[in-house]
Amino acid sequence: MEKTATLIDGKKTAQQIRNEIKAEVATIVDKHEKGPHLAAIIVGDDPASQTYVASKERAAKSVGMTSSTYRYPEETTEEELLSAIDFLNNDSEIDGFIVQLPLPAHINVDKVIDRIDPSKDVDGFHPVNVGKMAIGQPAYVSATPAGILELLKRYKIETEGKHCVVLGRSNIVGSPLSILMAKKAYPGNATVTVCHSKTQNLAGITKTADILICAIGSPQFVKAGMVKEGAVVIDVGIHRISADNEKGYRLVGDVAFDEVAKKAAYITPVPGGVGPMTIAMLLKNTLSAAKKEFY
Ligand code: GUN
Repeated sequence: MEKTATLIDGKKTAQQIRNEIKAEVATIVDKHEKGPHLAAIIVGDDPASQTYVASKERAAKSVGMTSSTYRYPEETTEEELLSAIDFLNNDSEIDGFIVQLPLPAHINVDKVIDRIDPSKDVDGFHPVNVGKMAIGQPAYVSATPAGILELLKRYKIETEGKHCVVLGRSNIVGSPLSILMAKKAYPGNATVTVCHSKTQNLAGITKTADILICAIGSPQFVKAGMVKEGAVVIDVGIHRISADNEKGYRLVGDVAFDEVAKKAAYITPVPGGVGPMTIAMLLKNTLSAAKKEFY
């Protein structure tokens, strides 16, 4: 029989985490204490963002949290958005909130993130949280990197001394992952290489990866020839490509799954890999906010 990688099941793992969170929320509420409250601000009507925010709201409610969504039109000014953030910063009912990205082009995203109270920044995007994460202080860690570490942990993947190659250097995924995987911790203690659009001999580097984390944003970019036999492959991408089915499309990641699965030891599928973990970790951060774990 042809060998194939063990699937890292993000859907199942995310559900386990959500069950754990639900139990903890129930304990808080049973003591007649205020349950966690997550809010989201969304500006404009980008369909993908609408879908993300709707699933976050559903997920929060499914674990017994309160969830509020504040919707603003595309023409909202930066000043108006900053005031909306001030309002949530000062609302003691709300434990944590996110501002859904991307924002309309006329709004400066750095200014917006800077305005969020770091103690309510459950996305972990504020420079204070990024800085604390980087120097190993307890803080909100952005949900996708946190979800990937949690998958490595729950699948007991060895990381110490391994060569971890991170494809992509975004503020939200690639950069924090490269920092976290090098930390003196488990998961961590890896030797980390970050590759990006200017990297030379990319395949030569990825072929030396024991753990290959693909967050490059290009559909099925990582082919079997770029992967070492027995590697652990984590796929952060999610893209629609046209397909001959009812919907007219199917979802793929940054990895050419079928061919890479024949070579890897472990692989995350798309969908059902990293994606579901992101929302689970956002809920975990919201629980931490309600418990005032970091601030
Ligand atoms: N847009 C895409 N992913 C995210 C996320 O995790 N948080 C926010 N705020 N916006 C996003």
